[in-house]
Amino acid sequence: MKILVTGGLGFIGSHTVIELLKNHHEVIIADNLVNSKIEVLDKLAAITGVRPDFYQIDVTDEAKLEPIFQNHPIDGVIHFAGLKAVGESVSKPIEYYYNNLVSTMVLSKLCVKYGVQKFVFSSSATVYGDQPSPLKEEMELKKTTNPYGETKAMSERILTDTVKANDGFAVVLLRYFNPVGAHESGLIGEDPNGIPNNLMPFVTKVAKGQLKKLSVFGNDYDTVDGTGVRDYIHVVDLAKAHVKAIENLTKGTRVYNIGTGNGTSVLELVNAFMKVNGVDVPYEIVGRRPGDIATCFADAAKAETELGWKAELGIEDMVRDAWRFEQQNC
Ligand code: NAD
Ligand code: UD1
Repeated sequence: MKILVTGGLGFIGSHTVIELLKNHHEVIIADNLVNSKIEVLDKLAAITGVRPDFYQIDVTDEAKLEPIFQNHPIDGVIHFAGLKAVGESVSKPIEYYYNNLVSTMVLSKLCVKYGVQKFVFSSSATVYGDQPSPLKEEMELKKTTNPYGETKAMSERILTDTVKANDGFAVVLLRYFNPVGAHESGLIGEDPNGIPNNLMPFVTKVAKGQLKKLSVFGNDYDTVDGTGVRDYIHVVDLAKAHVKAIENLTKGTRVYNIGTGNGTSVLELVNAFMKVNGVDVPYEIVGRRPGDIATCFADAAKAETELGWKAELGIEDMVRDAWRFEQQNC
């Protein structure tokens, strides 16, 4: 298939491009580089031996996006392009709603106009809100705590309604849990600008000595050791789920959790990082982070049954690959 990958130079998009090319799909990338670097294109070429077509455009810009649909026989779209910093979404709500919603609307409009029938969307476990884990796809969605989360819930509804109104347009909503790790080559991975908000990139910077110590946000949750529990998923496993999703897409809207089904606490992850990599990660326990929930992990059975996809990599692989990338690149 010929697949348009928006945000294809970002963290998850770039890993997915590799898996698509490995599975003999053709890839066109559209990315405005707002949170990625053009060098990733060279790295993708080095890893795969193929240099995908690349358009440096903002996918909210319909006039710039439409020629891609006119000039290429696109079979499917995987839509990663979006802004994703939860804290920033609270201080810049309009930027987040505009970028994340307009991009979804423009892309789905062009898909319908040009008869592109397959659409895979990057959603998030955040749409479940605070509910008991394991989280299942059929659970009612709860109000999220920030504009970023709202853009994911609203995009899910926009796409679901577009499918209802257009026979032949089919969508997969992939609800990611906590993507971490990096490609085994060490060439691509997660390299956030500034001080990281998420746990794994913070841990790698502390291990490298670029940040002094990790603040563990609370040890008084009702969890195995009092620290927050999440379902960390290796980005390469996550990337493979997109290939399965687009290859299995037939009609209607389908929703899948993309997680391992296992919960890992902050301290379990930090201890695994230190043990596997033989490095020290100094930390201190501080108060809870506002908006955090105690536990969040997937029921991952539906993706396995219906897509034939299951996470294969574990916490050891995630901490090893994240550290390799950090050492080689950041
Ligand atoms: P990322 O920031 O690394 O990648 C996003 C890419 O999209 C970047 O390359 C950026 O330059 C590009 N982009 C953003 N807005 C654009 C626009 N208007 N036009 C063109 N390009 C644009 O993020 P990621 O971690 O790879 O996340 C990919 C998607 O998955 C996002 O939609 C994100 O919200 C979603 N998601 C991520 C996580 C996570 O923890 N990483 C979890 C759940 C969902
Ligand atoms: C956060 C977002 C979520 C988003 C996800 C992936 C919030 C409230 N939620 O999820 O919407 O989909 O990122 O981008 O921001 N932790 C520390 N110290 C740190 C950083 C994190 O102890 O310096 C803890 C957190 O309290 C949490 C766990 O580590 O228990 C994971 O945190 P993080 O990586 O930020 O992901 P989430 O909070 O799950």
